[in-house]
Amino acid sequence: MKILVINGPNLNMLGKRNKETYGEKSLAEVDSLVKQQGKALNVEVATFQCNSEGGLIDFIQQQADTAEGIIINPGALTHYGLSLCDALADTNLPIIEIHLSNIYNREPWRAKSVIAPIAKGQISGLGWRGYIVALQTLVAELKGENWV
Ligand code: DQA
Repeated sequence: MKILVINGPNLNMLGKRNKETYGEKSLAEVDSLVKQQGKALNVEVATFQCNSEGGLIDFIQQQADTAEGIIINPGALTHYGLSLCDALADTNLPIIEIHLSNIYNREPWRAKSVIAPIAKGQISGLGWRGYIVALQTLVAELKGENWV
């Protein structure tokens, strides 16, 4: 079972960028913790980050056929990335949207997600641990446990 864990624009700057909001860990550290959790759950985790919407879409299109679920932090594309939203929807895979920060207690424009309507669920404000919870939940569901 392969799960894609995708990060969008500016998330390559984790650990340097606005640490009070996004935390101290680098993306490499977060990816490594998620992969460790993948090993514990006996699933393959393929991580990817890109600063452009087209690059994210290319990766999703290339990988979707061999993957069973997607965890994505779309960065600011969350709020306006309609092509990304279409690409995710076209996969017909279960999708969990994730944000390190709580997008609902920041600037008003961050409170709207164009991805949320096509996601199974969203985790927002739990920092890097949100990725772990997303992976645990997605894998449990794919192994036949119910979402609720
Ligand atoms: C983010 C929230 C977005 O609003 C922002 O543009 C990001 C990161 C988060 O993880 O909290 O780049 O997705």
